[in-house]
Amino acid sequence: MLSLAILISGRGSNMENILKAVKKNKIPIKPVIVISNKPDARGLAIAQKIGIRTEIIDSNGFKGGNWEYDSKLVSVLEKHGVTPQNGLICLAGFMRIMSPEFIRHYKGRIMNIHPAILPAFPGLHSQRQALEYGVKYSGCTVHFVDEGVDTGPIILQSVVKIKDNDTEESISKKILKQEHKIYPKAVKLFAKGKIKIVGRKTVIS
Ligand code: GRF
Repeated sequence: MLSLAILISGRGSNMENILKAVKKNKIPIKPVIVISNKPDARGLAIAQKIGIRTEIIDSNGFKGGNWEYDSKLVSVLEKHGVTPQNGLICLAGFMRIMSPEFIRHYKGRIMNIHPAILPAFPGLHSQRQALEYGVKYSGCTVHFVDEGVDTGPIILQSVVKIKDNDTEESISKKILKQEHKIYPKAVKLFAKGKIKIVGRKTVIS
């Protein structure tokens, strides 16, 4: 069975949702560790309550994309048995850019959830970007992480309708509901070996 690590920075609702699905035996994967780069991430207590080990690797003082920081992540991940052979690393509101070295080390084994229909609205505040742009639909994307920002092969997407009276808050809420549906699905597909990366696409069997 594959070993799952989830990296968070804050609230941890996607993490919670995935861990609960695993605990209910809905996903055949072993959740071994939750790592936060913020000591005060709310998700840490949630993970502990569910019974998953947590570690804090404080990123204070380390710029994003920094290998010195990411090598600490690799040590902790490998200490918990999350390797390039058997690991899956889910970024779930992990607010840091990963270094190219980290991405190469775990090539094809790092997933992220993004609150927009990529390639639209990458980066920060995607829900606000969507609202300000005036799109009628937005949504969320689970994708593999490559060396760009939100550019890796897309695994699953889900769409929500944007109404005239929507606010950044109401859009975020609608999108989050969809995030909670598709992220566990993507983890399950990966755990069952059903996702193949072909060039910049994924093929799901
Ligand atoms: C989500 O909106 C996710 O798409 C984005 O960060 C947020 C994390 O929320 N990457 P949570 O910590 O999972 O509740």
